[in-house]
Order: sequence, then structure tokens, then C-alpha cells
Amino acid sequence: MLTDADLDPAPLHGKTVAIIGFGNQGRAQALNLHDSGITVRVGLRPGSDRAAEAAAAGLTVLPPEEAAAGANLVFLLAPDEHLPAIYAAIEPRLAQGAALGFAHGLCIHYGLIVPRADLDVIMVAPKGPGAALRRLYTEGKGMVALAAVAQDATGNAWPLALAYAAALGSGRAGAGVLRSTFEQETVSDLFNEGAVVWGAVPAILEAGFETLVEAGIDPALAYLECVSELKLLADLVEARGIAGMREAISNTAEFRASRGGGRIVDDAVRATMRTMLAELRGNGFAQALSAEAAADYPTLRAERARARASALEAARVRLKG
Ligand SMILES: NC(=O)c1ccc[n+]([C@@H]2O[C@H](COP(=O)([O-])OP(=O)(O)OC[C@H]3O[C@@H](n4cnc5c(N)ncnc54)[C@H](OP(=O)(O)O)[C@@H]3O)[C@@H](O)[C@H]2O)c1
Repeated sequence: MLTDADLDPAPLHGKTVAIIGFGNQGRAQALNLHDSGITVRVGLRPGSDRAAEAAAAGLTVLPPEEAAAGANLVFLLAPDEHLPAIYAAIEPRLAQGAALGFAHGLCIHYGLIVPRADLDVIMVAPKGPGAALRRLYTEGKGMVALAAVAQDATGNAWPLALAYAAALGSGRAGAGVLRSTFEQETVSDLFNEGAVVWGAVPAILEAGFETLVEAGIDPALAYLECVSELKLLADLVEARGIAGMREAISNTAEFRASRGGGRIVDDAVRATMRTMLAELRGNGFAQALSAEAAADYPTLRAERARARASALEAARVRLKG
């Protein structure tokens, strides 16, 4: 882990950074850079609801092509599936030898964007949501980030990536910057999203809730047991690790957990995980994401509607109002 003692902010001094998009990451990164003394332009589509907030924060707001024109570094912080079209629109305006930045490696790793040969291509990927990236910065703290270089046309790509990570606050005490690659970041991120935290964990919470309710347990109690306790687990794991979490719970809970976890996450689950990881070697997921966006997100809309209409959501509303 590199910290501020290892990171030189100088490569960004006097440079102009264009941030395309002002959503989760764009807002946080633009504001952190601005507060770190970097000149920031925000690129937004005409009519964007977010232009007023960016301007009120003292940032220059321009259409994406104009924000990118002549900037030293252009970070693409709109949804991944829209980045190829955004890149195509701004490419003619990018200065020779400028740098192109990403917060996730998908478009580069799977070849959805093939940047011009004269450009540096870097990644600084904070390992958490934009709201937390911003909050930590304003508290004088930072968020762990991965840094990577896909194309080093000028020879300055790495110093620039590390200076950018420092300006985001990622080199501060308690955080740090991990050197990585576009491939490792993309594959591990997509694997986790599908097979671990964001894909498997909600699915197992739902399955546990439904199993209890089918057996006649009050849905409110099933929700408290199978869903609400996730926060207790997450806080303990964050503070003390999995080993410390086990020591912090009752002997009854720890003994029950020792007899249950391996039965659920059995050899078949591990085999499915390996299959899901192997699928990420090809670009099928990236193509499917592009097709999903082109069809106006039918899968995401259906999944959101299903979750909203579920018995689990009804129990949550009953408990929390
Ligand atoms: N979400 C996270 O916390 C997180 C964490 C780590 C990495 N990342 C990565 O960060 C990048 C940005 O993700 P995000 O979640 O921050 O995105 P997001 O919040 O969904 O981005 C929204 C912003 O993108 C703009 N935008 C959308 N489509 C556009 C288009 N076609 N042309 C121009 N601007 C467009 C929106 O413009 P309007 O204002 O006009 O709507 C808005 O300002 C992605 O590469 C993602 O993988 C995200």
C-alpha cells in the first residue's frame, strides 16, 4: 500500500483535469480534486440536473467535448456502458499526449474503447461508493484505491495516476493506494459483484427469509434474523476481520455457524464460482451490458420491480415504515 509519504502530487500541479459525469464517482472525485487545489472542469450533457450543483461548488461546467478539449487529463466517470459513445465524441478534442482516466477497467480490458496511441491510459479505482469517498475526504481521511496503467505513451502515466490518487485523498492515513492492472481490477470487481457481495449475499438473504416464511415464521421476525443482522456482521468484519467476528459472537452462534457455512458454500458453490470467474475471461459480460443498455435495461427494470414487490420488501416496510 502506498501512502502520502510515497506519493508525489507534483505531476498534477498546474494541470487541468476534466471529469466527465457528476454522479456517484464524478461528484466525489471532482470535489476532492478541487479541494486539493487542482483545476477541474466538469463535462455534462446540456440540460443535466447536476450542472447547478457542480457550478455552485465553484467548478466550471461545460459540455463533455468542450470540457475534454485541451485538458491534460480526462476522467470518464459516467456509467461504463455509456463510456464508448462518450469517448468517441470527445476523442477528436483530446490534446496530443493527454491522459485518459477510468475508475473501473471494463471498457479498456474488454476492448470497448481503444484509445488513441498517443494517450496515456490510467485507472484510479476507489474501492467504495462516491458518497463515502467524499465524506472520508471532508473528514481528513481517505478511501483505499487501486491504481493501474494500460497505456504509457508519454512515460508519465504512473506518476500521474499516483498523483491523482493522492489528490483524491487515497494516500491518507488509514487508506492507501495499491498498484494493480486493468485486468486484475476488472476481473476481481466483476467476480465480486456477481459471485460474492452484491450477487450472492442478497440472494442468500432472500433464500433464508423465504425458507423461514414458508415454514410459518412471522415475516417480520424472518426479516430481522436473515436481513437486519447483516449490518452487525459487516461492522464486525470491517472492525475485526472474520477471525475477530467469530470471537465476538456467542459460543452458540459461533458453533452453529461452524456447522452451517460449509454446508451452504459447498463444493458445488465453489465450482460455480470458478465457472463464473472463467466466464470473465471472455468479453460476453461486457457485450451483454452494452446490449442491456441499448434495449433500455429490461433485466435491471424487471429485477428492480421483482424486489420491490417481494414479501421481503413488504416485511421491511412493515418494520421500518
Ligand atoms: N458507483 C460507484 O460508487 C463506483 C465505485 C467505483 C468505480 N465506479 C466506476 O465509476 C464510473 C462511474 O460510475 P458512477 O456509478 O459514478 O456513474 P453514475 O453515477 O451513474 O454517473 C452519472 C453521471 O454520468 C452522466 N452521464 C450518463 N450518461 C451520459 C452520457 N451518455 N453522456 C454524458 N454523461 C452521461 C450523468 O449525466 P446527467 O447528469 O446528465 O444525468 C451523470 O452526471 C464507472 O466506470 C463505474 O464502474 C463507480
